[in-house]
Amino acid sequence: MPSDTVFKVAAIPGDGIGVDITEAAKEVLNKLAQCDGTFRFDFTTFDWSSKAYLERGWYMPEDAIATLKKHDAIYFGAVGWPSVPDHISLWNMILPIRKELNQYVNVRPTRILPGTKSPLVGCQKDPKQLDWIIVRENSEGEYAGQGGTTHGHENYAVATELAIFSYVGIERIMRFAFETAKQRPRKKLTMVTKSNAQRHGMVLWDKVFYTVAKEYEGVVEFDKMLVDAMTVRMVNRPDSLDVIVATNLHADILSDLAAALAGSIGIAPSSNLDPSRKYPSMFEPIHGSAPDIAGKGIANPLGAFWSAAEMVRWLGAGKLDAQADTLMQAIENVTVAGVKTRDLGGDRGTQEVTKAVLDQVERLI
Ligand code: NAI
Ligand code: MG
Repeated sequence: MPSDTVFKVAAIPGDGIGVDITEAAKEVLNKLAQCDGTFRFDFTTFDWSSKAYLERGWYMPEDAIATLKKHDAIYFGAVGWPSVPDHISLWNMILPIRKELNQYVNVRPTRILPGTKSPLVGCQKDPKQLDWIIVRENSEGEYAGQGGTTHGHENYAVATELAIFSYVGIERIMRFAFETAKQRPRKKLTMVTKSNAQRHGMVLWDKVFYTVAKEYEGVVEFDKMLVDAMTVRMVNRPDSLDVIVATNLHADILSDLAAALAGSIGIAPSSNLDPSRKYPSMFEPIHGSAPDIAGKGIANPLGAFWSAAEMVRWLGAGKLDAQADTLMQAIENVTVAGVKTRDLGGDRGTQEVTKAVLDQVERLI
């Protein structure tokens, strides 16, 4: 990496705890860059949020996507606030960004951080039992946006929500999932479906999976699970899973469960990727704006830091893996030391945990 490398990052803190954890993530990223000395970040922060929407009537300006395209990556906090219906906030911010920037993959790693506790008894004895990567299809399925409401209102209203599955869309996510599994030590992939009840889209989903799977026979071990049974397997046999591929909706739900099984939704990261690298990818913790704890200074920033580490890894394209690993090590040193927020059983605030991670980054480099 040339020593004058500058990454232009669009920061969108959004609402609630999204604001606190984005600020904390920027601090940690700047510290990492400053200590490392080979690269730096040029952040531009955008005040797109539900609060701003209530004041001016829009979430993002008309040229938002064009503006975002001028950046190397996007760091996102969370969007959503009780005074705005959730489908308005989601469909005016996060979903258009994912779609317009071709971020068709959402990668959600889950594991138990050292010094933290899983609610699963087996994982309390052996935390390594839970080490998964959930690959979420991020562009179609149940979030395609097709559907509508007709026949007026009240008891005559009819609403449809179409789940869209295209051959191309399925094939590209399956290929990404197999490649991800191939690079992992255990090389296992579990495909999640509901093709017993959903006999069109999900049957195509299965068919394309097995077509792509032919190219990986003998390289990646693969199997198929119905989504309902998958929840049971995640709880009862976590060690039998490695990489998991699922639709937009299924993976959304399963990844919240995964985060809870790993200790807290507050630690879970995600990367919205355009694997072609034509457009910037977006990094965000999987949690929402958490209105119940917003403004209290107790949000766990670790999911935000883990997402930041994934951003560094992506931006470096193989050249900043050591720096991303350093950030992860800093996070783990802090959890081991017992500096934890309440959701992880600790009593520290967002700022204390952030300070501890900053100190560790400085110590490790
Ligand atoms: P949420 O993830 O915001 O909160 C669920 C629960 O987890 C709450 O009890 C919260 O306090 C806790 N929690 C979440 N993050 C935490 C953290 N970092 N540290 C400690 N505790 C944490 O999900 P919820 O309540 O369903 O949604 C709240 C709002 O966020 C809604 O408007 C929703 O639409 C939006 N949302 C936005 C997302 C995004 O921007 N990508 C993702 C999920 C929800
Ligand atoms: Mg979610």
